[in-house]
Amino acid sequence: MCGIVGYVGGDQVSPVLLEALRKLEYRGYDSAGIAVVGEKEKLQVRKIKGRLSNLELLVSQQPVQGTCGIGHTRWATHGEPSDINSHPHTDVSAKIAVVHNGIIENHASLRLWLEKHHVVFRSQTDSEVIAHLVDFHYNGDLLLAVRETVKRLQGSYAIAVICEDFPGMLVVARKDSPLVIGRADSYTMIASDVPPLLCHTREVQYLEDLELALLTKDEVTIYNLEGEVQQREVFHVDWDIEAAEKCGYEHFMLKEIFEQPKALHDTLFSRINEGKIALNPKIQEALSHCDHLLITGCGTAYHAGMVAKYVIEHFAKVRVEVDVASELRYRTPLCKAGDVAILISQSGETADTIASLRLLKSLGVVTIALTNVVGSTISREADLVMYTQAGPEIAVASTKALTTQLMCLYVIALVMTKTEPGLLLEHLMQLPEQAQLLLDKQEDIQRFAARQFNKDKVFFMGRLTDYAISMESALKLKEISYTHSESFAAGELKHGPIALVDQSTLVVAMCTQPALFAKMDSNIKEVKARGATALVITFDTVHDFDTTADEVFRIPTTEPYFSPILTVIVSQLYAYYCSVLKGNDPDKPRNLAKSVTVE
Ligand code: M6R
Repeated sequence: MCGIVGYVGGDQVSPVLLEALRKLEYRGYDSAGIAVVGEKEKLQVRKIKGRLSNLELLVSQQPVQGTCGIGHTRWATHGEPSDINSHPHTDVSAKIAVVHNGIIENHASLRLWLEKHHVVFRSQTDSEVIAHLVDFHYNGDLLLAVRETVKRLQGSYAIAVICEDFPGMLVVARKDSPLVIGRADSYTMIASDVPPLLCHTREVQYLEDLELALLTKDEVTIYNLEGEVQQREVFHVDWDIEAAEKCGYEHFMLKEIFEQPKALHDTLFSRINEGKIALNPKIQEALSHCDHLLITGCGTAYHAGMVAKYVIEHFAKVRVEVDVASELRYRTPLCKAGDVAILISQSGETADTIASLRLLKSLGVVTIALTNVVGSTISREADLVMYTQAGPEIAVASTKALTTQLMCLYVIALVMTKTEPGLLLEHLMQLPEQAQLLLDKQEDIQRFAARQFNKDKVFFMGRLTDYAISMESALKLKEISYTHSESFAAGELKHGPIALVDQSTLVVAMCTQPALFAKMDSNIKEVKARGATALVITFDTVHDFDTTADEVFRIPTTEPYFSPILTVIVSQLYAYYCSVLKGNDPDKPRNLAKSVTVE
């Protein structure tokens, strides 16, 4: 997904912009560019297809001067990746430059209209209309011109605009795309996400939808579309800079997998006081009266919800409905005022999850955000918020965000159970250490991956929570290793999927439900009889599969419903090593973006 950055201050801006764009690389991109204005210099634009290193080379060959500028990493949607389609885009006379993240849905009609006003377009992008519209409305007041422009835009946007008439001014606006403002003593910055700001400041403000901000080096003023000044809370982000760096690991994904014991510990123990669970009383209150819980999210976040359904229904005996947010937002959810919904999102900025949140709120449902990013859209708009303490997750493939979401959902399950959690809480408290024990055996998984990474098909199967986490395991593998992988409820095998099983298939059987071991054993025999290789993941005390499976990987023993936190670490490592062995970059999987802020 595109990334935007901007800076206005006292320093030469191009190194600041390039460094900030580096921090946004994880979002995925296929071209990059910057635009800069100086006191004496006109607007200078440098943009180029390909990696950020191409842009760095271009800027070193054709330097730009100035202390105010904007930058962009583009993830092509309208128009192929090319120099011309890269951002920033400029107006006809090239005095105004714009970067944009989002999709302008009415760009075709705006383009026709502008062409009738003799505007000649250079690119195939939807974004270029914004530069020409700002120019059309510009009469010396940049803020007003941007305000009139955004009133005409349909779709989603986070935009940053500079103009050579104002070498110390940046104007930004947003609707349905994230935009964070960073505040420091002698400069201000903007970015699509927090990591580019971290080495400059921890004090951030968020623009709401349909707001604009005017930034100078000393001041930030936020306005609504009527031009009225808006007051805005300043959030303090306590992520450390190292958390957003690789710190010696080859990839962010591997680093984040290894951060899980600490992330799990922080997420759980920040909610335990004198041996008891202590949640925000309002969340506790909402959950204690809930007899219908809805959970929604996308991708990995949805899988966390699937695990939670099994866990909460089993322990708390409360009906749980789980749906992917892209479906929920368009269907007719049968809920009543007083129902509770948990919106799960690492970024807190996923478009479908935000739309579902707004729908559920309009139906009178009490909404709880479960997110990793302080001050994100979902955290601000939900009635209540619960933060995972995962620290920044940079890799596109979600790992520590998932396991910390699961930890929060387990805590919720125990709160809803209403009886003394006793042994269950003890099991939860052991999970961070058990995750570390598992990571200490990573070489076993690496070796297994080295033998199996070329398999054409990988099927993950299980029952109950093992099935739910199989879905996540299959997603992880397909995302970064591009292997065809699917998940099945093991009992469904005979109803169709077994037709696909042959010698080229690896079947990973998640077996942590003791009451269903015999059933799983039969399923494993069925796939083996068709030539598949079978890997079983089970507890370290279990030997039921020793003779059936080709290989058994053992995880520390815990309450069976809590095992997904451990089994998924095995799948994460397996996916990671398969990706590396296939020569892929696991941090930047093809066609994927970290934060899906458009539909
Ligand atoms: O930021 P979110 O948790 O809302 O993101 C949801 C999905 O886009 C995300 O989990 C995606 O599926 C990841 N690439 C999974 O690894």
